[in-house]
Amino acid sequence: MTILEQLEAAYEVGLAGLESAETTEQTTEWYRETLGKKGSVQLMSRQFGKLSNEDKPLFGKRLNEIKNELEEKLQLRQAALKRAEIDAKIASDAIDVTLPGRPQPVGRLHPSTTVLRDVLRIFGDMGFQVFRSEDVVTDQLNFEELNMPPEHPARDMQDTFYTEDEGVLLRTHTSGGQMLAMRKFNPEPIRVVLPGMCYRNEQITVRSEIQFHQVEGLVIGEAISLADLKGTLTEFAKRLFGRSVNTRFRASYFPFTEPSAEMDVYLGTETERDRRITKGTGWLEILGCGMVHPVVLRNGGYDPEKYTGFAFGMGIERMVMNKYGIPDIRYFWGNDLRFLEQF
Ligand code: PHE
Repeated sequence: MTILEQLEAAYEVGLAGLESAETTEQTTEWYRETLGKKGSVQLMSRQFGKLSNEDKPLFGKRLNEIKNELEEKLQLRQAALKRAEIDAKIASDAIDVTLPGRPQPVGRLHPSTTVLRDVLRIFGDMGFQVFRSEDVVTDQLNFEELNMPPEHPARDMQDTFYTEDEGVLLRTHTSGGQMLAMRKFNPEPIRVVLPGMCYRNEQITVRSEIQFHQVEGLVIGEAISLADLKGTLTEFAKRLFGRSVNTRFRASYFPFTEPSAEMDVYLGTETERDRRITKGTGWLEILGCGMVHPVVLRNGGYDPEKYTGFAFGMGIERMVMNKYGIPDIRYFWGNDLRFLEQF
């Protein structure tokens, strides 16, 4: 075999060896045996001196070609093996990268919170300040100072949860907060809304729960009139239900206001739902209101000869039921995710 033939043979062996390498380690080994310092192709250069002058350039050119080609094929082979190794690893880790991710549950606001915030925002825009008070109050604050002495029949309107402490109870409405606001701001004019949870010891039905949110409002100043009450509450209703909503005031009775009224908004009787929640009349009562009773003003430290004011109180859940068409108030505290996730 001539030296040139030996070179071609070393080349063939090298090619075959590379093709049969199945891991990157085997290619490294192959490199050592073929192109490395003592590799079969590399060692061929030692034959150079034995060549005739005429064969020398031929041999040199061919040797370079072979080295370059093997080098290039090695790169390709290694890249392919690397890819295959990664694929195998993914498969063996049993990670299915095409599976959809697990959704992270995201909390959301309870519909009562949303409407409560809407109401507070509207009053905030109208210049009212939020005033907070406690859920556990005295009989004095919840009833007596609001012109409901112990034997007053109006107490029957609100079945009360009493605590074991004499004269301490869960507030049945937010109206007691009126008294706290008056004591705090006296003798300044007042324009506050008082949000809060209220409690009543009632039979739980489709329309009544033992706990619910109210937002109370109180405005006191010189020359505050019934017109201010009507204007403020009508504007509120328009901002909450839409500019075209119709409202009306009906005379009513509360011991702490005189005169007293209830405000209705007109929903119409077109849909089955509107007929049902308005009992066929199209009108839905949304709040109680009135001019602050002189006795209440005096209890709060305001001289009724000099100051007048108006107050109102609304149930938030009522409003939510109306807004979202919720047929049963018991859903609110039922904690059923199928209900809550709809909002
Ligand atoms: N507190 C009354 C209720 O719970 C509502 C009300 C508040 C009425 C303020 C008049 C003035 O029904």
